[in-house]
Amino acid sequence: MNALFQQVYDFVEERIGLKTLEAKLMKEPIKGGSRWAYVFGSVLLFIFIMQAITGMLLMFYYIPSADHAYASTQFIIHEVDYGWYILSYHFWGSSAMVVMVFAHMSQVFLWGAYKKPREMVWLVGLALFGLVMAFGFTGYLLPWDQRAYWATTVGVEIMDKTPVIGDFLARFLKGGPTPGQMTLSRFFVIHVMILPGALMGLAGLHLFLFRSAGPAGPFRGTPDELKAKTDFFFPRQVWKDIMAMGVVFLIISTLALIEPVQLLEQATPDPGDYHPEPEWYFLFLFQLLRWKVFSGEFGQFLGAIAIPGLFMLLLVALPFIDRNPERNIFKRPIALLCWAVVMIGITVLTVSAILNREFLD
Ligand code: HEM
Repeated sequence: MNALFQQVYDFVEERIGLKTLEAKLMKEPIKGGSRWAYVFGSVLLFIFIMQAITGMLLMFYYIPSADHAYASTQFIIHEVDYGWYILSYHFWGSSAMVVMVFAHMSQVFLWGAYKKPREMVWLVGLALFGLVMAFGFTGYLLPWDQRAYWATTVGVEIMDKTPVIGDFLARFLKGGPTPGQMTLSRFFVIHVMILPGALMGLAGLHLFLFRSAGPAGPFRGTPDELKAKTDFFFPRQVWKDIMAMGVVFLIISTLALIEPVQLLEQATPDPGDYHPEPEWYFLFLFQLLRWKVFSGEFGQFLGAIAIPGLFMLLLVALPFIDRNPERNIFKRPIALLCWAVVMIGITVLTVSAILNREFLD
């Protein structure tokens, strides 16, 4: 058996050079040693792979038609063996992806890892952030219940306010005057084909650029100190990554067990007494739009498009505006303050939107 294994190994080695590949993948030096702070990117890849697997399993039963989407989702929940678990894992996995993308962005921001020579890694990362949010938005419609239908209606109305491309984007996504079969078909194709393809391509580019520039490493310590503590990617960082993936898997599974997905009534163009509301990670924006300054046509444009758009542009420009090579966050008070204000702002707005919802219920 061993001899056969050796023969197969030698055969492949001779053709593709497994040793060089292994050296490239596993022997990447990490200045200053392995850290828990570096696990977020790998955990994001793990969550994405699990989303792809659970998503494919769901597609064995889900029917992307306005007449059958709701019934097929109910069938998955109530009739298919472990269907409720797969769907609930997929649902909580999407929230975990958003939480992890914020954790990863915070880590690279606080560690100053966006600075020269990693500007391109940061820019591709921002595109990946957009894809993660687009996954959440398009997936939300697929169960075709009241929550799905109305969150999408409100979301598309908000997009409509974008200058120049808004009208086209809203018409393209809706595919008709009100959300219907065309909307569902388009959201489905975007969710299961366009976004996964784009994410795989961009994540590959992100990793290629990351490997070309090399990991930023800790923000403190002299080059000699860092060199003395250097680890290879394998085994210490790999084990930390695997442990973090295990913990995330357990958390998502537990959430799926204690809070499984339940649908509201089937989508109708009449909201009845249902208050339309987006998924929790868009709630901060929803809450912002409740402020008086953001009421009216212009106010809504300001709150929903102009401010988030300018914020994203600022993030794009960040590595080019902040050219100071200092990476130690304790010596970058403005960066620390900006990060804290954004995080506290998003948390306060999200919590107040949730409290507001309970009050309305
Ligand atoms: C699906 C989303 C993403 C995936 C799968 C992903 C994956 C990764 C991985 C595996 C690494 C290498 C190790 C690490 O530090 O974790 C990495 C590094 C990096 N990522 Fe991401 N990332 C994503 C989104 C983002 C976003 C949203 C940003 C920022 C806007 C970003 C910016 C960076 C930067 C600057 C590095 C270099 C870190 C360093 O050198 O220490 N990434 N990413």
